[in-house]
Amino acid sequence: MQRIGIVVAAVSFFVVTSASASSAMPGADPRWSESGSAVTEYTTSERPLIAVAHRGASGHAPENTLAALDAAYQMGAETVEVDVQRTEDGVLVLIHDTTLERTTDVEDVFPDRDSYHVSDFTMEEIRRLDAGSWFDSSFKGEPVPTFAQALDRMEELDLNLFLELKEPSLYPGIEQEIADQLTERGSWLESNPSGEPRRLVMQSFDWEAVRRSKDLLPSVPHALLGRVPEDRIQEFSWAQMINPNHNTIDATYVERVHEAGMGIMPYTINERSRMDTVLDWKVDGFITDYPDVGQEAIAAHSRKSPPLVRIPIPSLPVTR
Ligand code: G3P
Ligand code: CA
Repeated sequence: MQRIGIVVAAVSFFVVTSASASSAMPGADPRWSESGSAVTEYTTSERPLIAVAHRGASGHAPENTLAALDAAYQMGAETVEVDVQRTEDGVLVLIHDTTLERTTDVEDVFPDRDSYHVSDFTMEEIRRLDAGSWFDSSFKGEPVPTFAQALDRMEELDLNLFLELKEPSLYPGIEQEIADQLTERGSWLESNPSGEPRRLVMQSFDWEAVRRSKDLLPSVPHALLGRVPEDRIQEFSWAQMINPNHNTIDATYVERVHEAGMGIMPYTINERSRMDTVLDWKVDGFITDYPDVGQEAIAAHSRKSPPLVRIPIPSLPVTR
């Protein structure tokens, strides 16, 4: 059933109707009842629901590689999440772990090293590593990409980005270096119009680093990773999202985050039934290794619960 509502605002009216893609989103917008009467605690969406491709489409290709970005794009994902860290000689690279063993052949290439920390290797050394074979032999030779290479590829493919500062306390000043690269490119700092997914979200489990980044990039939405205790959510009103582990939240928590005017996209949800559950909780999206499955879940949810958008209509004459 299509949901239609009308609200009387100070100077204008809006019709609320169903749309192809939308979700609850933070903000001061009123939401609407099925009967059409205004319900002030209900918040309309201004952005579509999204299935963020975690570490690229990491269920289908080696995480945090250009191949994973390509796979996400090929599956129709609009937004990818990646992790950024820094080499010994100061190059920003995409990698999740703080050490290189799990996702590269570093132990074969450098058998005599006593540390495999990302921060102990130069970019020239990291270029020699294979970051694809551990996942599947068809990805043999896939390199660890630099952040700059990944941004190039995302720009080429018109992918939006959730960028995680991974263990930023290990890399003093990394917030500034990332802000500089993004600012040089310009387009990442442009806010997408309502009705489109966000171009860029900066996020970290290190909430102090998120704050530092927000100070450097005030126009960019920032997310706190992890579950902010309900009684502390208001402390973080400068942030735009809280993205917790899906196993740590419930429908009430989602509501609390929305009441604080923030969005919420839990991670990392790979089971279709769990995607359906969090969508019923009215999350704004979720982070998944399988954006293909995620998009199916969102499409099914939108058919079941057509989202609401506001369409302006002319103001009515004032009657006295
Ligand atoms: O985007 C959130 C998610 O990536 C956080 O967990 O460990 O996969 O970086 P992790
Ligand atoms: Ca991550």
